[in-house]
Amino acid sequence: MKKISLTGIKPTGTPHLGNYLGAIRPALELAKDYDTVYFIADYHALTTVHDGKEMADNIHKVAATWLACGLDPEKGLFYKQSDIPEIFELSWALSCFTPKGFMNRAHAYKAKVEANRANGEDLDTNVNMGLYCYPCLMDADILMFNADVVPVGKDQKQHVEFARDVAIRFNKQMGKDVFVVPEPLIQETTDVIPGLDGRKMSKSYDNTIELFLDEKARKKKVNKIVTNSLPLEAAKDPDTCNVFNLFKLFATPEETAALAETYRAGGMGWGYAKGELQRVLERTFGEAREKYNDLMAHPDRIDEILHAGAEKARPIAREHMDKVREVLGYGKSF
Ligand code: TRP
Repeated sequence: MKKISLTGIKPTGTPHLGNYLGAIRPALELAKDYDTVYFIADYHALTTVHDGKEMADNIHKVAATWLACGLDPEKGLFYKQSDIPEIFELSWALSCFTPKGFMNRAHAYKAKVEANRANGEDLDTNVNMGLYCYPCLMDADILMFNADVVPVGKDQKQHVEFARDVAIRFNKQMGKDVFVVPEPLIQETTDVIPGLDGRKMSKSYDNTIELFLDEKARKKKVNKIVTNSLPLEAAKDPDTCNVFNLFKLFATPEETAALAETYRAGGMGWGYAKGELQRVLERTFGEAREKYNDLMAHPDRIDEILHAGAEKARPIAREHMDKVREVLGYGKSF
């Protein structure tokens, strides 16, 4: 039997190359070796998004992105969290096994508190209980579907460790192995993807290239990538160049070697290097963009796929939740 890999995707904006390389591509590659669970963590987004239209739109964008990038909804599970109420039932049960001190140390909450302290604000300013309890909901996401591994960027490692801890604690206190103890699978690549200005590509730095821009809009972005101001004739160093460092993430080894050679030989202008980057980006995303645009023009189709996915996932969740209820003394649901 294959092991289970589970990936949660928070719908908070338009996916960009950093999301693709750091999360989407590696998570889709795991489908070769694992049974996969992909879900949209839409109730997690509620800690910050309080606009129904924006939420619905974000959910559609993220679902369409994953589908366009090759997620096969027939294989494994693909659903949105809010369609599986058992997850929220489990979240409560797990919160009763979670030391409050852990939540005090959770990094997203702690960062908010520290920012409030630095600004001389009351420490609880803009902290809702959803943010505080965020890790408990994430524990339920992970433990409900018996995930063996959870591929995450470094920033989410702590959350997966909480899930491990609560699984061990629960199993021990209740005297039964109700939960699989999950492992984080850390993706090292996440922090080396350069944005337009050379800093890590991130929505908060406003330096992103979105995945499904049309060629013209993408060209405008690529033209903004910061390069040095060496003249055309000068030999250039590929390894310190943002254009090259993005290029190599989408090029074949032969293409990478050839472009590096062109840099070093001199006589190459930035327009050429940027054109090469455009070419590999279009090759990677051109077809997927059509699929994405088609899905976004028919959101009802996205909903249908998500609902079919929830229909497949819910009985599994119900059965697991009943096991939890039984050990806790509530008996099966009816
Ligand atoms: N917290 C994750 C993020 O911000 C999203 C998420 C929610 C998640 N539930 C999860 C990731 C379960 C992995 C497993 O990126």
